[in-house]
Amino acid sequence: MCAAAVPVSPTSRFTLRHGAVAAGDFADDVRRGLTASRKSLPPRWFYDELGSSLFDAICFLPEYYVMRAEAEVLHAHASEICDAFGAQVRLVELGSGAARKTRILLDVLTERQRELEYVPVDVDASMLERSARELLADYPHLRITAVRADFASPSSSLAMLGPHRGRNVVLFLGSTIGNLDPDAAIAMLRDLRSALSRGDALLLGADLRKPRNVLEPAYDDPLGVTAAFNKNLLVRMNRELNADFALDRFTHRAFYNEPLGRIEMHLVSTQPQRVHLAALDLSVDFAEAETIHTESSYKHDESTLAALAQSSGFTIAHLWTDARAWFADALFVAS
Ligand code: AVJ
Repeated sequence: MCAAAVPVSPTSRFTLRHGAVAAGDFADDVRRGLTASRKSLPPRWFYDELGSSLFDAICFLPEYYVMRAEAEVLHAHASEICDAFGAQVRLVELGSGAARKTRILLDVLTERQRELEYVPVDVDASMLERSARELLADYPHLRITAVRADFASPSSSLAMLGPHRGRNVVLFLGSTIGNLDPDAAIAMLRDLRSALSRGDALLLGADLRKPRNVLEPAYDDPLGVTAAFNKNLLVRMNRELNADFALDRFTHRAFYNEPLGRIEMHLVSTQPQRVHLAALDLSVDFAEAETIHTESSYKHDESTLAALAQSSGFTIAHLWTDARAWFADALFVAS
């Protein structure tokens, strides 16, 4: 028997690094977004404690297929996906969160590789610590180098890592890329590509185009959970910026903008009104039916994914979908 069979203590297998977090804060984004001629707010502000819980609840809705479809893709193709990763992988994950879906891949990878370094990248340091503790308990040969950073400039997170003999494989799951307009998505992928070597890979989760009667209820559910998720932005501005939004004077709207291939979520003012944000010393006027655009969620097909890959220095080596072809995980290989 060799000593390596006895796993070392979890603490010695965990490191936390602090990387780049986008400078702009909530107040700046709100001021910019609400004083623009077409009002908007960046979707990253959905995720305070209540917002994150509401998103978890969304994933249980029968209409919101996104999470379950991707879990199906990963379960159905886990061993093929890990074959495609190759040997000696270092696994990086952008926006790792609770890393629930990651476990599907870790189950296979830790069987194949005696040692595995996993690099979760997330803005939430407490989430990184919690999920690392759970993973280290369940995977005795895993080493975790957690990086506290947002996923907007992945190259700075990758630059914090030591050298690695094998292939870097980056996970960007859950259709998070869908929140980025095409130019921003390409910029982010190019930034990632700049930190990778030829042959390194990205497993990208992307929601696929499908009929409006499936897409729209997923973002406008009859229980009203997505409406609450959207309106929580108003709650948050009231609490954090001393604003006086009346929640019953805004409604949730979600629709499929088919020409642009995206779901849009808006908060619609039901009447002409003036809102005051005391912390910003700002008053904002709304016309009746004027909206705040709070989220775009882009839907892809093989050609939009190929265009993304091509514009950012990758080629698509594989593309796996669920049985209904509602969601894809694509392996982008750095070319
Ligand atoms: C977390 C960005 C993947 O776009 O489907 C869910 C967010 N918004 N319901 C998505 C969301 C409304 C979600 N992503």
